[in-house]
Amino acid sequence: MPYTLLIQNCSQLLTMASKTGLSLQPLSREELTEWKIIPNAYVACVGDTIVATGPMVELDSSQLAEDTTVIDAGGRVVMPGLVECHTHLVFAGNRAHEFQRKLRGESYLDILASGGGILSTVRATRAASEEDLLTQALHHLEGFRRYGVTTVEAKSGYGLDKETELRLVRVAREAGRQQAAQVVCTFLGAHVVPPEFKGQPTVYLDYLVAEVLPELRGEAEFVDIFCEEGAFSIADSQAYLAQAKNLGFQLKIHAEQLHNLGGCAMAAALGAISVDHCDYLSAEDAARVAATGRTVAVLLPLVPLFLRQQQYAPGRELIRQGVPIAISTDFNPGSCPSKNLWLALSVACLNMGLTPREALAAVTLNAAWAINRQESIGSLEPGKRADILVLDLADYEEIPYWLGENPVRTVIIGGVPQPH
Ligand code: NIG
Ligand code: FE
Repeated sequence: MPYTLLIQNCSQLLTMASKTGLSLQPLSREELTEWKIIPNAYVACVGDTIVATGPMVELDSSQLAEDTTVIDAGGRVVMPGLVECHTHLVFAGNRAHEFQRKLRGESYLDILASGGGILSTVRATRAASEEDLLTQALHHLEGFRRYGVTTVEAKSGYGLDKETELRLVRVAREAGRQQAAQVVCTFLGAHVVPPEFKGQPTVYLDYLVAEVLPELRGEAEFVDIFCEEGAFSIADSQAYLAQAKNLGFQLKIHAEQLHNLGGCAMAAALGAISVDHCDYLSAEDAARVAATGRTVAVLLPLVPLFLRQQQYAPGRELIRQGVPIAISTDFNPGSCPSKNLWLALSVACLNMGLTPREALAAVTLNAAWAINRQESIGSLEPGKRADILVLDLADYEEIPYWLGENPVRTVIIGGVPQPH
């Protein structure tokens, strides 16, 4: 089959592929650093699939046809599309007014306890029409695509009743169909306790298990819970996740964001695919997460930045202990209204101690592992989906350096170059 797309003259092709063949687990320890870069390289695709990568001198020009689209990277870096493995994509309104309160010194949990925070977005989201929610979600996905994000995990969690939660999942799926980036759905009905169940977290979780989870089979792959003071306790979170697992869902958790309650280790022991936030994760609990060999710690460095919190996830300690790490924005209206995963990558280097190579693995292949997409995305290898970025840089070391910039020149999704 002749190539339908060729990207040539890449100064560095960041393949993310391991030097020793396909790995069976997310990248950890030195694997986070040792993935393969091919200098002066090409990547070739047929349809939506990568079929060959290699140095330019090995390019088989007999595979070029008249209608092959040729993109000349002109000595720039080429890498896999970014994988956003933790977002709260679908919501209405914004919380700019609360940002002012935060700047005056109120904390995230104080604002939540006063009926604001997540609950204020729940009110706005319940009041919004499905059409408006879809328009907003598509707007945010467009922003993500501009940053070179080609896959987005989208959580529900601003409905907190059956009808609205199902609507949020429906909107996320529809948004996935209406544009090129892939959308993967997570059910976060257990975000906080809604006003209708105030003071009765267990009753609310039982309601989700009985009434909502059965409706989500085939619609959402993952079930997530916010385990935190002011949200759900460790005991409630454990009972809920265990039931979700029995119903066939893969598990995620928001844990150790503001306090160390032990949620990450608990969820990892239940086989969670990821444990997210981890800012207050202890060294002992990191060892428990590492012991699974499979649970990815999703680090969200823009959240402590935006919440003015000193404590960042102990990135170096996690890597030392062998925990596979991914990085995401956590895009949401309260703790991270940013879609700039490049900025998150830089802040992970600055405040979590990651190296540029580790951070790059964390926004691509390991992020794919965190949403069970490692077989199709996250690296540039034959057989994988042709989600590819051409960056406006000649050397990958510049990626975290140009703080806050969007280095993306061209985005290719499923073999199709996207309009700017
Ligand atoms: O991941 N921490 C819980 N949930 C979100 C924030 C949601 C919000 O504030 O609206 C998070 O940070
Ligand atoms: Fe989150």
